Amino acid sequence: MTVKVPAKVNLQLAVGRVRDDGYHPLVTVFHAVSLHDEVTVRPAAKMALAVTGEDAAAVPTDRSNLAWRAASALAKAAGLRGVDAAVRIEIRKRIPVAAGLAGGSADAAATLAACNELWQAGLSQRELAEVAAGLGSDVPFLLMGGTAVGRGRGEQLSPALAAGSYHWALAFGRSGLSTAQVYATCDRLRAARVAAGAPPPAEPALSTELMTALRSGDPARVGPLLTNDLQPAALSLKPELRRTLAAGREHGALGAIVSGSGPTCAFLARDAAHARELAVLLTGAGVCRAAARASGPVPGATVLRDSGRS
Ligand code: C5P
Repeated sequence: MTVKVPAKVNLQLAVGRVRDDGYHPLVTVFHAVSLHDEVTVRPAAKMALAVTGEDAAAVPTDRSNLAWRAASALAKAAGLRGVDAAVRIEIRKRIPVAAGLAGGSADAAATLAACNELWQAGLSQRELAEVAAGLGSDVPFLLMGGTAVGRGRGEQLSPALAAGSYHWALAFGRSGLSTAQVYATCDRLRAARVAAGAPPPAEPALSTELMTALRSGDPARVGPLLTNDLQPAALSLKPELRRTLAAGREHGALGAIVSGSGPTCAFLARDAAHARELAVLLTGAGVCRAAARASGPVPGATVLRDSGRS
């Protein structure tokens, strides 16, 4: 069973004060983009995992991989054990690792969707989303796709009304960033500002201006409204990203933002041709490891084929 799953960018990422459980309350606008991983699951005598493609060597192939944990969590929810719950998971990566694009969460979402089909487990979308939320904050959105508002840790989703298609250039960093480290740095920067007399950060709130702009379908209105509260932290950990963002703006990007916890920078383009041009120029300017174009919104984890029956 093979499932295709997209990456995400956050059009808004508003981060509140850290909770007692170590997570931060969020209000975010997720947007699924056409940069996909593929995950195949097959029945096997025992659990196994293999990774090929982009950054494959950086991905663990044991139970510490979120996709492996996804298969185990789904088996538990479906009441399967032993050999009935064993699969070989093959991940073909195009989404860079530790990039702020939720690649690991995407592979976990794909594994849930693929195992649900393979085992004919029959979990509803809602039940799958519950299992997904137990795995990570972004996993439920990667099942759903499209454009959606996330609250809580990001796992409480409601679809957003967005018109039209948006074209992006994505500039990938030379090395990854740890999500936990970026959140911790955000806390430190905020504490230092408060100690210096600044007011504490406001409760995170959805940008009604952004939601109105998304309904208009006009990228020129959406671009200036992209915001990310984690951006100062990502920039303090990787100051070179300032040059990346500046290069995109110089070449006419309508919006330029660090994606999620970074280091990928996402540039909103006027149209598909402009996105291609931006990707070429950013690569040529030497301000990133590589750049790609993508469009959104696209659907979440989607079954491509049943390899066993085709
Ligand atoms: O849920 P997930 O495993 O994707 O989160 C990775 C890390 O990011 C968490 O361990 C936490 O440090 C941080 N995080 C957070 N607040 C969120 C989501 C993630 O602090 N809402």
